[in-house]
Amino acid sequence: MSFNSKRYDNMTYRRCGRSGLQLPAVSLGLWHNFGTRADHDNCRAMLRTAFDLGITHFDLANNYGPEPGAAESRFGQILQQDFAGHRDELVISTKAGYHMWPGPYGEWGSKKYLVSSLDQSLKRMELDYVDVFYSHRPDPDTPLEETIGALDQIVRQGKALYAGVSNYRGVSFVKASELVQRRDWTPLTLHQPRYSIFDRWIEADLLQHTAAYGTGVIVFSPLAQGLLSDKYLDPANPIPEQSRAADPDGFLQTHQITPEKVDQARRLNGIALRREQSLAQMAIAWTLRDPRVTSALIGARTPAQITECVAALEHLHFDAEELAEIDAIAPR
Ligand SMILES: NC(=O)c1ccc[n+]([C@@H]2O[C@H](COP(=O)([O-])OP(=O)(O)OC[C@H]3O[C@@H](n4cnc5c(N)ncnc54)[C@H](OP(=O)(O)O)[C@@H]3O)[C@@H](O)[C@H]2O)c1
Repeated sequence: MSFNSKRYDNMTYRRCGRSGLQLPAVSLGLWHNFGTRADHDNCRAMLRTAFDLGITHFDLANNYGPEPGAAESRFGQILQQDFAGHRDELVISTKAGYHMWPGPYGEWGSKKYLVSSLDQSLKRMELDYVDVFYSHRPDPDTPLEETIGALDQIVRQGKALYAGVSNYRGVSFVKASELVQRRDWTPLTLHQPRYSIFDRWIEADLLQHTAAYGTGVIVFSPLAQGLLSDKYLDPANPIPEQSRAADPDGFLQTHQITPEKVDQARRLNGIALRREQSLAQMAIAWTLRDPRVTSALIGARTPAQITECVAALEHLHFDAEELAEIDAIAPR
């Protein structure tokens, strides 16, 4: 398989906090559209298109499917088929935290679960190691020492190169980072929170802390699962057939496409058009306006969507008026 020899020329790479790791400003996640029922050729085309555009980072989790584990298995197959010889050009992440198998060891944050889940993920993807392993969510009942200590052990064993946390609020992230420093554990290289024009919690509760501890931030669902695109703007076709909201396996529910949200998206689309961007492109550029954000982690159903999203990087600058208009439509 040969890839675009110019693939590194147009992508922007940003450093994760104070680490040595750089990530593409747009990364691709395999949460949707890579499960058992997905079209294999389309999955291959999406990953190849992404890599051709300089997207070197692919994000997975143990439970991505359906069925849980299916996205990792498919990704492993495509790595063998199309990416042989390119492993060292890729940053592959996976996570454990949500429900994966029955019984007390199949979810949350125990060492028992994290270590065995990563072993299963490595088998499914046919990898010796992942680049980043995350605790997918904080566990209120397991001591933080155990969860973060398990990440440290995993890195020391060479099963992951970097450790990360996802969905941790500011206070838990600070506690975890303090532990890491006190115990001289593997640093938390990445935090993966949700962030978009419609969901701005990290501005008040997280970014000052990740910056203080030198942790990078890769934000998921920058398009609010597609709400921040032109997909749901046509009154004649409010839920298009080819959309996550229409997909029975999709996490975006039709009740989330409220008239209020559609109205906000329409007004935002007006600003995007003035910037000569699509709404999806503006939404991605907006998450990247803060240098503390390392990468915008998108999902996709087609190669064309990936191409469109990466073109957001051609126009990242916002003037103060545009930002104020966006704030007025979708306040903090
Ligand atoms: N850590 C966590 O807890 C967590 C949680 C969620 C996600 N994630 C990660 O973040 C990744 C991205 O999440 P996400 O899929 O919700 O991100 P997103 O980028 O907000 O939404 C992706 C969806 O938007 C639509 N889309 C993409 N590009 C488009 C374009 N150019 N024009 C119109 N519509 C477009 C597609 O939906 P249609 O199917 O409607 O076309 C696509 O599936 C996941 O794959 C996963 O790796 C992590």
